[in-house]
Amino acid sequence: MDFNEVYQKERATRKFTNRKVNENVLRQIIKEAQHFPSLLNSQPWKVYAVMGDQLDKLRKEYRAKVEEGAEPNEDFATMLSLEWDIFPSQNMATMGASQSYFFNKKLDLFNEANNSMFNAPVVVYLTIPMQSPAWSVFDLGIFAQSLMLIALNRGIATMPAHSLVSYPDLVRKYASIPEDEMVGMAIGLGYPDKTAEVNDPKYFPDRLPLDGIYKLSK
Ligand SMILES: Cc1cc2nc3c(=O)[nH]c(=O)nc-3n(C[C@H](O)[C@H](O)[C@H](O)COP(=O)(O)O)c2cc1C
Repeated sequence: MDFNEVYQKERATRKFTNRKVNENVLRQIIKEAQHFPSLLNSQPWKVYAVMGDQLDKLRKEYRAKVEEGAEPNEDFATMLSLEWDIFPSQNMATMGASQSYFFNKKLDLFNEANNSMFNAPVVVYLTIPMQSPAWSVFDLGIFAQSLMLIALNRGIATMPAHSLVSYPDLVRKYASIPEDEMVGMAIGLGYPDKTAEVNDPKYFPDRLPLDGIYKLSK
């Protein structure tokens, strides 16, 4: 696919169809994502895929936890500060049409998408060792973004979501992740449900003007 096309397709997909993702294709995507850089080539990431019956069971238990009001306890929360600086807070609060759409008018739709794990036919959970420097979080971000672009290049849409790692014990159980690995992030993969309102492109959020983030020193 032309890079520009991949670039345009890079958007959150909050509802997938039931069409499955071929496991060989998934393996290839992950293999290609290994190509990208990490500090001193440390490659701290591991990838655990869950699909089919296992994912159905995980999804059911995940929803039950959300509905019983279980407190999320993401692994990253133990490692990183959860306090936001003013700059990203303002971006989250004020940016774009999606904010008013999701957070004021259509919160139920947004919540349902998250609670159903976006109906993703496969979720990949990305881990780094429990004992990691902040650099490894940076490396994992590069790996995650690379994986998403490679998937998009193969016509597979992506949904990066921290909600998917809200309950790491549940994820560990179904994805067989060892206790000494941190469940950092997860990405749902599949084919977008183009009829779903939650995927409507008119609600894609804006970005800051370039001058809001870029300065050339003179
Ligand atoms: C680290 C990370 C975590 C995210 N977690 C969630 C999430 O839990 N639920 C969700 O609906 N979207 C989640 N998103 C998607 C963002 O809300 C989305 O990427 C952002 O609003 C920009 O929208 P766009 O990707 O469609 O351009 C997450 C994105 C990233 C990078």
